[in-house]
Amino acid sequence: MSAFPPLAIAILISGKGSNLLAIIKAIEAKQLNANILCVISNKSNALGLEHAKRSHIITHVLEAEKNEPREIYDQRLIKILDKYTLDYVILAGFMRILGHKFIQHYNNRILNIHPSLLPHYPGLNTHERVLLAGEKEHGCTVHCVTEEVDAGPILGQARLAIEPGETPEHLQQRVHRLEHNLYPRVLQQLWRQRYAT
Ligand code: GRF
Repeated sequence: MSAFPPLAIAILISGKGSNLLAIIKAIEAKQLNANILCVISNKSNALGLEHAKRSHIITHVLEAEKNEPREIYDQRLIKILDKYTLDYVILAGFMRILGHKFIQHYNNRILNIHPSLLPHYPGLNTHERVLLAGEKEHGCTVHCVTEEVDAGPILGQARLAIEPGETPEHLQQRVHRLEHNLYPRVLQQLWRQRYAT
């Protein structure tokens, strides 16, 4: 491994955590110089928490209280994250929108992966919408998080050709595989840029 320190990251999830797992595996395979300081889920039953525990990564569950204002939730999240000295906050299927103060606090240090070729198809149900529109290609994007949802500067994309008669489920699986390769690759690129002379 390099003499330069690994990227210190926290990963935020809500569900399966397959992107989290891909990042863990890339670190274990020494393809990515990063250290996951903690994993935070806003759902106590998120499957991804198991991946983190199996790799002995610290986990936190932070569920929103009923009718809790976004700002209050975000403050609680900041309180946990600020216990760590982080280079990046990595959103990997974290199904909450983060507010102004949170985004300002981690200015330019929050990354997200989105299942479309941004700026096309921000928002939900991208695979269905891409198929309905008769697109020829689709893919995924890693971008910096800004206040406009799914709209920050693009750091990397991976694309595929849509197969004839493809179902949304099949397309989703294939895009997921691209995501698992793209996210670690973009993170390693950021590490390299950090220490480039
Ligand atoms: C991925 O499709 C990602 O693009 C989107 O949420 C999904 C998370 O999947 N932001 P997983 O929890 O990493 O399996």
